[in-house]
Amino acid sequence: MDRLRIDYTNALSSAVGDEHGIAPAELEQLAAPSRAALAAVLARRTRDLRWLDLPAQEKVHAEILDYAASVSGRFRNVVVLGIGGSALGNIALQTALNSPYHNLFPPAALPRLFVLDNIDPDLVGEFVDAFDPAETLFNVISKSGTTAETMSQFLIFRRRLIDRLGEAEHKEHVVVTTDETSGVLREIVKREGYASFVVPEGVGGRYSVLSPVGLLSSALVGIDVKGLVAGAIAMGDACAGADLAANPALLYAALQWLMQSKKQKPIAVTFAYSHRLASLGDWYAQLLAESLGKRRSRAGKDVFAGPTPVRAVGVTDQHSQVQLYAEGPFDKWFTILAVDRSDHAVPIPPAYEDLEAVAYLGGRTMNELFEAEREGTRIALTEARRPNVSIEFPSVTPHTVGQYLYLMELAVAVMGEHYGVDAFDQPGVEAGKIAAYALMGRKGYEKRRAEIETAKPKTPRVV
Ligand code: PA5
Repeated sequence: MDRLRIDYTNALSSAVGDEHGIAPAELEQLAAPSRAALAAVLARRTRDLRWLDLPAQEKVHAEILDYAASVSGRFRNVVVLGIGGSALGNIALQTALNSPYHNLFPPAALPRLFVLDNIDPDLVGEFVDAFDPAETLFNVISKSGTTAETMSQFLIFRRRLIDRLGEAEHKEHVVVTTDETSGVLREIVKREGYASFVVPEGVGGRYSVLSPVGLLSSALVGIDVKGLVAGAIAMGDACAGADLAANPALLYAALQWLMQSKKQKPIAVTFAYSHRLASLGDWYAQLLAESLGKRRSRAGKDVFAGPTPVRAVGVTDQHSQVQLYAEGPFDKWFTILAVDRSDHAVPIPPAYEDLEAVAYLGGRTMNELFEAEREGTRIALTEARRPNVSIEFPSVTPHTVGQYLYLMELAVAVMGEHYGVDAFDQPGVEAGKIAAYALMGRKGYEKRRAEIETAKPKTPRVV
């Protein structure tokens, strides 16, 4: 079976020097804390970290596939209404596992997928103008079932559906994914009788991609969800052992922690050398940022912790960001996502053989050029003493993508132990939501609104 590999040679002091690279002894010192961190995370598996068990939920997977089969061929569009952890995984899976041109040329009987993860009126308004709700299935996703962005979108599209199809028929065009009991969205499901799926307890937004949150829209657009969860299970098995040197999640977590705490590299760049893996970088950015970016430690002290995730895409960003990466401040470390085998082989036809500046390309392949550019960047970063690791995908398949998702979720949970923060709450996000409720005049938030009004600058400086 195709297993992901993490090559961390270039993160070591032997490759990039003592100042920027990790010495074997520094890794060794993390062996015992890593063991303890893994034990602490896995001990919560049946308590509050239920996302660890999502790949084993066969009954749920069967329900998802049954639902997808029951609506097969009925809709031209599937639209996800969700945001943050209720959208990023959906985008990442679609980008990784369907053709980049899926929405232009959807395979027979499969719908197109749109994820409206913003409420910018120009995004939503354009959609309202351009798409026929009668051809569309809306998957409303919200763990809390209260998020203003998602609920406002739901109200807009529900109205459009009712106007177009009538009260009774509109219900066939909505499927909801939310908490089993709490939240107003669950109440609405009960009132309307919408089809629905559950975001289980103990599964926070950014750890929910392998629940119906990410799997339902994937199944609807033809992605092999069984392959995805099989990959996640395989990675869970590979990460079960407590030996730091043999456990990919422990190793990656240790590298992140050492890079920030010992090597003064607060910025973690995910450099996807793959169009298909690019959105996994966005998904990981949320996982890392929301999990570790915390004001307080678990002991209640102000720590203002957390790495800053940055996403880059090769080769595109070679022509925009690599200059900074190779010669700018030594405040970054890099994770290159590399793919051994592309699905396509694209030959470059020979031409202009008398013009050496272009002739050398002829007769080679785009695959060779892509690989040469990736290797060139890896070499350039290493020579510039920029620590980098490579996560190598044998190819991009449901299985390898499932492995990656589970690897990173577990690694970030372990990082939470190293950083000493709660990797599963998001008080900063909640604070923004509360302020928005107050500004929108939601009942119960009057006091917060008054505080915001009072704190407004008396003399704004604007130029
Ligand atoms: O990871 C998280 O918890 C957040 O990003 C949420 O996913 C996001 O705020 C949306 O929340 P909800 O799914 O409750 O609508």
